[in-house]
Formats: sequence, structure tokens, C-alpha cells
Amino acid sequence: MNPTVRTAVIPAAGLGTRFLPATKAQPKEMLAVVDRPAIQYVVDEAVAAGLDDVLVVTSRGKSAIEDHFDRMPELELELDRKGKQDALAAVRALAEGPRMHYVRQGEPLGLGHAVAMAADHVGDRPFAVLLPDDLMVDDAALLRGMLGANAERGASVIALKRVPSEEISAYGCPRVEPVDGPLVRIGEIVEKPSPEDAPSDLAVTGRYVFSPGIFEALAKVEPGKGGEIQLTDAIGELSTSEPVYGWVFEEGRYDVGTPLDHLRATIEIALAHPELGEAFAALLADVVRRHGLD
Ligand code: G1P
Repeated sequence: MNPTVRTAVIPAAGLGTRFLPATKAQPKEMLAVVDRPAIQYVVDEAVAAGLDDVLVVTSRGKSAIEDHFDRMPELELELDRKGKQDALAAVRALAEGPRMHYVRQGEPLGLGHAVAMAADHVGDRPFAVLLPDDLMVDDAALLRGMLGANAERGASVIALKRVPSEEISAYGCPRVEPVDGPLVRIGEIVEKPSPEDAPSDLAVTGRYVFSPGIFEALAKVEPGKGGEIQLTDAIGELSTSEPVYGWVFEEGRYDVGTPLDHLRATIEIALAHPELGEAFAALLADVVRRHGLD
């Protein structure tokens, strides 16, 4: 565990256009996966990796996120009155987790711009960035590994996952050199390349541990792909002044910002759920049989 990294920055200002109409009037980060909103898994992951300070970058229409991690005395009183102690404990625990902070991104100027909004809060320390569309079901193993590598090397570490070539244009994509086990060194990096221009088959996924140098890099980059300030471009800029590493992982990632992967995450998490798992497995087997999918 890295004692110097305490803050997880969670960019949650996006519009959720890949999941309309569900996300028209509610933040995509609040869409439930089984029994809790997606962002709660991400905050829990940060805590499991040893982080105790969370900054969420929000925008208009995202106040449900702040309410979720706040006390709610009327609800608590009602649950207490009805003797629903388990529900009460679960509701209270949400407000007793890490220190939660919020900053608003007034205009949708890109992921890089959203991360730059964390500069004042983070200061001159390394920090993590967790994209809430990317839900990890891995007991925080990936983030822990990345924090360990950051502590050892004193440098930024970006999560990378091998994807089929036709999918690479949805991601940042680096050229890499092997270092040690899952650790690689990042050279050139391109945001959403076409398959023919992709420098590798490794996709940047939504876990990053940054040295504070990323803020200087972000201040230097011009709007890139889609006219937005791209975090990927700032990573490329950073790699010209200090080493930047990648951490290649295989399993456990779900893109809950899309309906199909949200369903995949729902099924996997429901099957592993301590209370619902057994009944859900029976239900799923029955559905599979009835639809002739077995
Ligand atoms: C963002 C980043 C991209 C990264 C992806 C991971 O893209 O810009 O580099 O690969 O997250 O999920 P977005 O999915 O916001 O378009």
C-alpha cells in the first residue's frame, strides 16, 4: 500500500449519452448494479486499496451523488422506528466512509479538463483517478498493484487491458516496452486511434495513479480528439519529462456506461452476492433453460 497516495479523484461530470434514456434525468453513476449505484463500487474499491479521501468532479444534475454519500436523518429515523436495523446500518455507513469532496466542472471540456479541476485539492502529491464507468470486480487488486508500483518507482502508472483490434478506437492506446511482469513503460500514446494507426492492442482503462506532474502536463495540452482536453494527451506530454508506466491486467473490468456490459456486470455481481447469489443462480438457470440457451 502506498502511504503517500490518499486521494481518489472520480470524474463524474459526463452526460451518459451511451445509456439514454435511463440517464436523461439521473446521473449515470447512480444507475444501480444489483443493489447499489455504480459509483459506490468505485468508492469502495478506493477504500479497499487504502485511500481515504475522495474528490468527485460533478456537473449540473448530479446532486444525487452527493445525497447518496450524505446523512439522511428522515430516512434513518424512519428505518429506526420500523426496526429495520440492517437497512439503517447500510444507509449510515455510506456517510461514514472516506472524506467526500465535490468540485463542479461547469462546461464539458473533456476528461483532461475534469482531472485538472482536482489540482487545488490534490496539491503536490501523487493521486489516483478512477473512472466510474469502469467497474472493477477484483477486490481492488488492480488498484493495489498500481499503487505499489507507484510507490516503488515514484512515477505514474496507467491501467492497460488487451482488447481485440476492432475495439481499440474506443480507448487511449500506448506504445509500450516490457519492464517487469505486468509493468510496462509507456512511450507514445494516442487517444482513440483507428485500428490501423493503433501503436498496440493495449487499451487505457479507467484506473490511473498520477504523479502531480500531470497537472503541468494538462495545463500544456491543447484540445485534442473531439475538441476536448484529453487526459491521454497529457499522459503523452508527461512521458516526455518523466517515466510513465502501464500495468497490464486481464480480468474483472465491466464498462457499466453501456447497457450490455451493465447487464454482464449485473449477472456476475448478482451471482457472487452473499444474500442473492444462490437464488439468482437458480433463477438464471431457469431462464437459460426456458429460452433454450443451454
Ligand atoms: C476515456 C479516456 C480513454 C480511456 C477510456 C477508458 O474515454 O479518454 O483514453 O481509454 O476513458 O474507459 P471515454 O470512455 O470517456 O470516451
